[in-house]
Amino acid sequence: MYIFKEIHSLQLHLEAEKKAGRTVGFVPTMGALHDGHISLITAAREQSDVVVCSIFVNPTQFNDPKDYEKYPITINEDVSKLVAAGTDVLFLPTVAEMYPEGVHGEHRHYDFGYLETVLEGAHRPNHFQGVGIIVHKLLEIVQPTGLFMGQKDFQQCMIVKKLLEITQMPVNLVICATRRETDGLAMSSRNMRLSADERKLATAIYNVLVGLKQNIGSTPLPDLKQNAILALEKQGFLVDYIEVADANNLRVVSAPIPEGMVALAAAKLNEVRLIDNMLL
Ligand code: PAF
Repeated sequence: MYIFKEIHSLQLHLEAEKKAGRTVGFVPTMGALHDGHISLITAAREQSDVVVCSIFVNPTQFNDPKDYEKYPITINEDVSKLVAAGTDVLFLPTVAEMYPEGVHGEHRHYDFGYLETVLEGAHRPNHFQGVGIIVHKLLEIVQPTGLFMGQKDFQQCMIVKKLLEITQMPVNLVICATRRETDGLAMSSRNMRLSADERKLATAIYNVLVGLKQNIGSTPLPDLKQNAILALEKQGFLVDYIEVADANNLRVVSAPIPEGMVALAAAKLNEVRLIDNMLL
């Protein structure tokens, strides 16, 4: 696996690959890789000639500075996992390489409209602007054929879809299913920050989503959401939201709709904020 820390050398390498007619599959990550990330690499491996992964903990998408400081960094393990999964190229830039204008410099503003005003957007001010900035920069650098992202970050996937529309980039967004631990907890780099006791409790998020899915036809939605919130609070979570939305546009619904729905949850267990979702 080639490792590039500089944009210029990565681009020289990829230009040669593209000139030789090879397609490029790209998996952007913030590292602390788990099997969820590796499933994205596997999907990219199956659908592309060259697989590029980036590891960059992007400061502009963290609305909470403590969350940024504590974001797990496990670069040696990440490199081994990427090699084992058949990754061709790792892009590992510094903050200065990605933000020559400065992290607090002037950045482009993206009009994500309604999508940015709800759920994660409402609870994490400017988070999706930060995601838009970095994903746009990375896509301009890598210019991949396919972009592989996880459904675990459902709203982020919708934001990136919108980013591709706004920027008119000819990139095929491939959304891959959430990978879960055996007890149902969605795989996430943040799980590493859970204590043993918190880890046992964390599966409650998955359980309330399953409960919601099972009872959506028989119990009024407001009651289902309230029960889910109470169940999480009972386990010691501080709930940001439990919502059910139209899976096509994230419009929050108050009664079931036939177009397809998604239940989304975000809650904090002491210091660690977890999110998850489930198609209903
Ligand atoms: O999902 C993530 O890990 C990040 O939000 C991403 C897409 C790599 C952008 O920093």
